[in-house]
Amino acid sequence: MTYARIAGIGSFLPEKVVTNKDLEKMIDTSDEWIQERTGIKRRHIASEGETTSSIGLAAARRAIADAAIEPGDIDLIIVGTTTPDKIFPSTACIIQRQLGVRGCPAFDVQAVCSGFIYALDLANRFIKTGGARTALVIGAETLSRITNWDDRGTAVLFGDGAGCVVLQASDKPGIVSTHIHADGEYEELLQVRYGVSVGYDKTQAGQAFIEMNGNAVFKRAVETFDKIARETMADLDGAVGDIDWFVPHQANMRIITAAAKKLGMPMERVIATVDEHANTSSASIPLALDQAVRDGRIKRGDTVMFAAFGAGFTWGSAVVKY
Ligand code: UT7
Repeated sequence: MTYARIAGIGSFLPEKVVTNKDLEKMIDTSDEWIQERTGIKRRHIASEGETTSSIGLAAARRAIADAAIEPGDIDLIIVGTTTPDKIFPSTACIIQRQLGVRGCPAFDVQAVCSGFIYALDLANRFIKTGGARTALVIGAETLSRITNWDDRGTAVLFGDGAGCVVLQASDKPGIVSTHIHADGEYEELLQVRYGVSVGYDKTQAGQAFIEMNGNAVFKRAVETFDKIARETMADLDGAVGDIDWFVPHQANMRIITAAAKKLGMPMERVIATVDEHANTSSASIPLALDQAVRDGRIKRGDTVMFAAFGAGFTWGSAVVKY
C-alpha cells in the first residue's frame, strides 16, 4: 500500500507587520476589542510587488530544502488560494515556472479557508493511486488585496502569508485520513460579491472586497468544527487521546477554543497562531504547522489533526502521522 507522508515543510510571511494599534489610526476600532473578540494582535501584509506566487514560492523553496529534494523531483503542484496573482494562468503554473519545473500537472484549488485541506486531500489521492510521487501542496494568500480597509467588521481579521508541504510516496502513513465537504447554501454569508463573470459594480470599479455576516459565520464555524472532528474520530476508530496535536484553521481564537473544548482537546495540545498571523485563509494551517514543527512542539511520529472551515461553505479535515 502506498501512502503520502509529509517529507518537508516551509512557510513565509511578508516582512511588513500591521498591529492593532496601527489599525486604531485607520478605523474606529481598538486593540482591546480586536484582542477580546478575535485573539488577533498583529498581521503580516504583502508590500507592493509581493504577490501570492512570490510568497508561495518562498514557502515552497523552504519546504523543498527541508525535504532535501530537488525541484526536478516534483511531479505535482497544487496551490490552495482564493487570491491568485492573475485570473490566469494559475498561481501553481507561475510557481512551477519560478522553480524551473516543467511538464508536471500544476493547478489551483479554490476552497477559500479550506483550500489547503482540499489541496492536501487531492495530492494524497494522486500519490495513493500512483499518479504522483513527490507533490508540492501550497496554501498562499494575499487577502489584504481583497480587504476593505474602511470596514472595521472585516479589516481587523485578515493577513497575508504562505505555507507549503512536500508530500512523498511512502510505504508507511503519512496521511491517515482526509475528509472534504461543501454546502453552497450559504453563499451570501461570506463572499466577495463581484468578479469576472458576475462583473463589477460600475460605480465602485475594482471594489471587490470580502463581505461577511460575522455572527452567522461564527456559529456555523463552531458547529462545523465539532462535526468534522467527530467524523474524523469515527473514521479513525480512535479516541481524542490518540491525537497529539490539533492544528485548526486560524480565524478567531474564540472559534479555536470552542472547537477544542467540544473535542475535549486540552489547549496545550492546540496550535494557535491567530494572534500573530490573523486569518490567512488557506495559508493558516501550514503556517501554524510549520511554526509548531520549528519550535519543537510537533515531532516526527506525532499524530496531528487538521480542520478547516471557510466560505462556500467548505470544510475539511486530515489526520497525519507527522
Ligand atoms: O475563515 C473563516 C471565516 N471567518 C470566520 O470564521 C469569522 C467568524 N466571525 C467572527 O470571528 C466574529 O463574528 C467577528 C470577530 C467578526 C465579530 O465578533 P462578534 O463577537 O460576532 O461581534 P459582532 O459582529 O456581534 O459585533 C459586536 C459589536 C457591534 O457593535 P454594536 O452593534 O453591538 O454596537 C459591532 O459594530 O462590535 C462592533 N464591532 C467593532 N467594534 C470595534 C465590529 N467590528 C468592530 C471592530 N472594532 N473592529
